[in-house]
Amino acid sequence: MTTRRIEVVKSIEDLSLKAAELFVSEAAAAIAVRGIFSVALSGGSTPAPVYSLLSNDEYRSRISWDRIHFFWADERCVPQDHTDSNYKLASDLLLSKIPVPKANIHRIQGELGPDRAANIYENALRFFFQDMPVPSLDLIFLGVGTDGHTASIFPNEAKANNTTTRTAIPVYVETPGIHRVSLTLPVLNNAGTVVFLVTGKTKARIVRDILEGINSGFPAARVNPDRGQAIWLIDHEAAKLLNHRKMI
Ligand code: 6PG
Repeated sequence: MTTRRIEVVKSIEDLSLKAAELFVSEAAAAIAVRGIFSVALSGGSTPAPVYSLLSNDEYRSRISWDRIHFFWADERCVPQDHTDSNYKLASDLLLSKIPVPKANIHRIQGELGPDRAANIYENALRFFFQDMPVPSLDLIFLGVGTDGHTASIFPNEAKANNTTTRTAIPVYVETPGIHRVSLTLPVLNNAGTVVFLVTGKTKARIVRDILEGINSGFPAARVNPDRGQAIWLIDHEAAKLLNHRKMI
């Protein structure tokens, strides 16, 4: 059964610190048991300070980077050096600054187009998580959009919302008209830990609707790992419509 933990923090700085500490503790726990740690990163603006933090001297020395395998929750179908690329975001802020072997970076090759990129990513997942019918990432960082999307699973995309057979799927988002590739709900729900990073008052309504169960149909509301935990790290502005918010 899923455990959902909600943590309301004062600022984006506090949120980033908590997320970085979670990264460290989840990585240490996984490495102690299996020798490696798999994490999927997201794009958007909220995780950027977390990536920057993890690349600073303190974190660089606390993490066994050669044991960490990086995946992505989603990607836009743009070249890898495009400003909209989720890989570029993580690469600029984190991957280029840490001693992680190239072979541990499993990016989504969005520049190949949605169908090909999704197929190749599915193969990469299958290869890495060899004996598992559904990949089980140790940690996934996610965001939530004001419309309730998470990764690139948008509310009205029937295929992306309903697939039970795919691990990664091509998605076309009409506004602003862009092709993407996303991990699917079965993969998000098979993770050890999923961490939602949510800030700002524009997210207050969707946070309330999801966390108070007003609408459990939003893609982000449907992410509740079957055998793991979902942690919602929310700043006070995004949490302001929650009934029982307790700041930590
Ligand atoms: C992306 C995403 C997406 C994002 C949300 C929240 O690449 O855009 O993975 O799902 O996490 O849209 O984005 P913000 O952090 O910018 O609010």
